[in-house]
Amino acid sequence: MSDTHDHPLDDPAADPFEIAAAAAADIARLTGVDRHDIALTLGSGWGRAAELIGETTAALPATEVTGFSRPALEGHVGTLRSVVTPRGRRVLVIGARTHFYEGHGVRRVVHSVRTAAATGAKTMVLTNGAGGIKHTWRPGQPVLISDHINLTGASPLEGATFIDLTDLYSMRLRDVARSVDPSLDEGVYCQFRGPQYETPAEVHMAKTIGGHIVGMSTALEAIAARQAGMEILGFSLITNMAAGIQTTPLSHQEVIEAGREAEPVISSLLARVIGAL
Ligand code: HPA
Repeated sequence: MSDTHDHPLDDPAADPFEIAAAAAADIARLTGVDRHDIALTLGSGWGRAAELIGETTAALPATEVTGFSRPALEGHVGTLRSVVTPRGRRVLVIGARTHFYEGHGVRRVVHSVRTAAATGAKTMVLTNGAGGIKHTWRPGQPVLISDHINLTGASPLEGATFIDLTDLYSMRLRDVARSVDPSLDEGVYCQFRGPQYETPAEVHMAKTIGGHIVGMSTALEAIAARQAGMEILGFSLITNMAAGIQTTPLSHQEVIEAGREAEPVISSLLARVIGAL
């Protein structure tokens, strides 16, 4: 399914919601779980959370599910899991993200979110690794996303679909997260297209227009989740200070390593938050 020419979402006449429904049916069949309550997308650094949330009852390569593309990057594991929490809630853990910078279009980027909604999930938890702008933050620190600025110029919405984005990153869910860890700070996430990291001037712009976090994934997914009627919780792991805030050059290796170091702590935080939802 990695070939651009035979991907079902690349057919402009196809209905992305029907493809998401087919994907949800695949997930129900392959996991034996008819409905999920919560969906969780794991970004860099958050990968270990699945083990801590509860018991994994099924794990499958995302490529077995209609419309999922192969992972583009090492460090982004293409696995879907069905996990049951100690309180009996079913969590669909999505370890397969398609980024906008891969150039396959927004339909493919948000397919996992639409599929999650079609499995029945009412809560979408989005996590990512990102650059930090606030001077009080340090690499390895998890923060809540309070709002976003979409600088991609793209949208998952097609046609005249006017959707309200007030309280997009649910205040209620942020309060739940803070009840687990009162020290969690929050900030506005600016999504750039990437895949190049930002210039210091772009980071300065992001800061000037009210941004605190720079990344390449979550805003488009959050819009699709809102369209699907889900309540959204967003977390960023600050893997590095954004370009120009840190004076040394950024590297993908540094981002991966910061994620690896922070993984035990943030995965346990995330598992406790999911347990409290
Ligand atoms: N910018 C954009 N995306 C990122 C960064 C960054 O500094 N770090 C990790 N993902």
